[in-house]
Amino acid sequence: GCGSDSDGVFHTEGNKLRMGTNATFPPYESVDENNNVVGIDADIAQTIADKLGMKLEIINMEFDALIPALNAGQLDFAMAGMTASPERAEQVDFTTSYATGIQAIIVPEGSEIAAIEDLADKKVGVQTGTTGDLYCTDDLGEDHVQRFESGVVATQALLNGQIDAVVIDNEPAKAYVAANEGLKILDTHYAVEDYAAAIAKGNTELHDKINGVLEELKAAGTIDEIIAKYIHE
Ligand code: ARG
Repeated sequence: GCGSDSDGVFHTEGNKLRMGTNATFPPYESVDENNNVVGIDADIAQTIADKLGMKLEIINMEFDALIPALNAGQLDFAMAGMTASPERAEQVDFTTSYATGIQAIIVPEGSEIAAIEDLADKKVGVQTGTTGDLYCTDDLGEDHVQRFESGVVATQALLNGQIDAVVIDNEPAKAYVAANEGLKILDTHYAVEDYAAAIAKGNTELHDKINGVLEELKAAGTIDEIIAKYIHE
């Protein structure tokens, strides 16, 4: 009994708010040693649930499964450092944006790649279904893109010399580079994007509620505080 009834009315299950994410994306979401999903999105989602007097359940899944799961009624909302892109906005509704992301390029130290143009005849790793995947596929063509289930796995392939670069959001890029020797982030970037929470189209009641809380948290400086806990610069 969840999701949309035949009458098109959405029901959240009891007092539970089911949030979908893909926890391979620090500092927005990762899995800690106790197997809990932690990070900026988890903290913001918990604050939203608290404000709404609901219990939060976080469901960790593949990134490209989030929008289908929302539309199948398996999730109430998704927060996954997800870019509020016009293409996705045809499939789901986005809340107000709560953070900014930049598509960054990771290369091995000493790589000859210094700018976006240098990617032209190279093999670039991306996380399947991300905007990085979209941009690279559009700009470089299928043959030059290799898709991985996460940025972590793509970074591993870069370290193993299977690919020449990884295109992914700048904050996880920094985390991957910090966790591994021999990689660097180029001083150039692909695109600046807005992150937002996604909700199934038609679930206007929950959309309004979550949007209202997010606006309130933004105005109170709470979102900035949560982000500052994880991103120091
Ligand atoms: N911002 C990018 C996008 O929306 C990447 C998001 C990946 N998120 C994740 N939790 N793995 O496509």
